[in-house]
Amino acid sequence: MTAIITGKNLTKRYGDITAVDSVNFAIEQGELFGFLGPNGAGKTTIMKMIYCFVSVTSGQLRVKGMDVMNKPRGVKKILGVVPQEDNLDPDLTTYENLITYSRYYGISKKDAVARARELLEFFSLNVKNQSAVMELSGGMKRRLTLARGLINDPEILILDEPTTGLDPQARHLVWQKLRELKRKGITILLTTHYMDEATYLCDRLVMIDNGKFIAEGPPMELIRKLPGRMVIELQEIEGQVYESLKPLIENEVYEYFGDTIYIFTNDPKPILDSLAEMNLPRVIERYANLEDLFLKLTGRSLRE
Ligand SMILES: Nc1ncnc2c1ncn2[C@@H]1O[C@H](COP(=O)(O)OP(=O)(O)OP(=O)(O)O)[C@@H](O)[C@H]1O
Ligand SMILES: [Mg+2]
Repeated sequence: MTAIITGKNLTKRYGDITAVDSVNFAIEQGELFGFLGPNGAGKTTIMKMIYCFVSVTSGQLRVKGMDVMNKPRGVKKILGVVPQEDNLDPDLTTYENLITYSRYYGISKKDAVARARELLEFFSLNVKNQSAVMELSGGMKRRLTLARGLINDPEILILDEPTTGLDPQARHLVWQKLRELKRKGITILLTTHYMDEATYLCDRLVMIDNGKFIAEGPPMELIRKLPGRMVIELQEIEGQVYESLKPLIENEVYEYFGDTIYIFTNDPKPILDSLAEMNLPRVIERYANLEDLFLKLTGRSLRE
């Protein structure tokens, strides 16, 4: 395997804010690589440095051997970008948006037309190809932005929250398409706040907090680092009830946050049995997941 994108001590400062703080990574060719992290963690900033939209403050960032600061034209040529904010032209139709965008890449009209048709089909936007963008629903706009990101047949696709606001059908459609693109050998970078999405799609991912990487690896490997394979959630637990429960769970690995006790375990049955006669309002048993790890590492409180 060869790394197609490498960051070494990569840092981005906006004035006093260090948005990305000396991170190191190597993304392999053909890999689907995820960036997870709370709001303001620095995900979009990393993406923007890769697609040469903001400058690198210090450190090194190379895309297919090209330094992003010295060879931005070469880098942009092999990238497809789906930015976090939709920036489609609202006055143009779905179809025209694709054609207009293709001009930035110097694609011939004939090729652009063929490619636009193919992509509209690929993202099930055919019936809307003559609709103005402002007549599209949020999810359709997102799919059009995805289609637009592929107009130049990129080697690397950068997706900044591609499925935010999509309904389950559209989300699954996008997942299928991403896997299809991956099979074609395209390297895909993905940021998402959906932990299930990251678990299903990513070969490897990093979790970022305050501009630093705090975990990295294949999703299932990361999940296995949790103190148990199962989680018992005891919900609607008030302080008093918590005090009375404490002796029953004192030997377990658990966390009490808000109104919920989270117990991590490999063997839920004896715990559930011991709690049975307590008549607790809401008990949920489920598998531990990436979101548990995310919340464990980044804390449960809201980011500004
Ligand atoms: N143009 C800018 N000028 C100043 N500060 C910025 C700018 N862009 C981003 N920041 C700051 O950099 C930090 C990282 O922002 P970034 O957009 O990379 O976060 P993110 O991880 O993508 O968050 P989200 O999940 O909300 O999209 C934040 O503190 C943000 O306020
Ligand atoms: Mg972002």
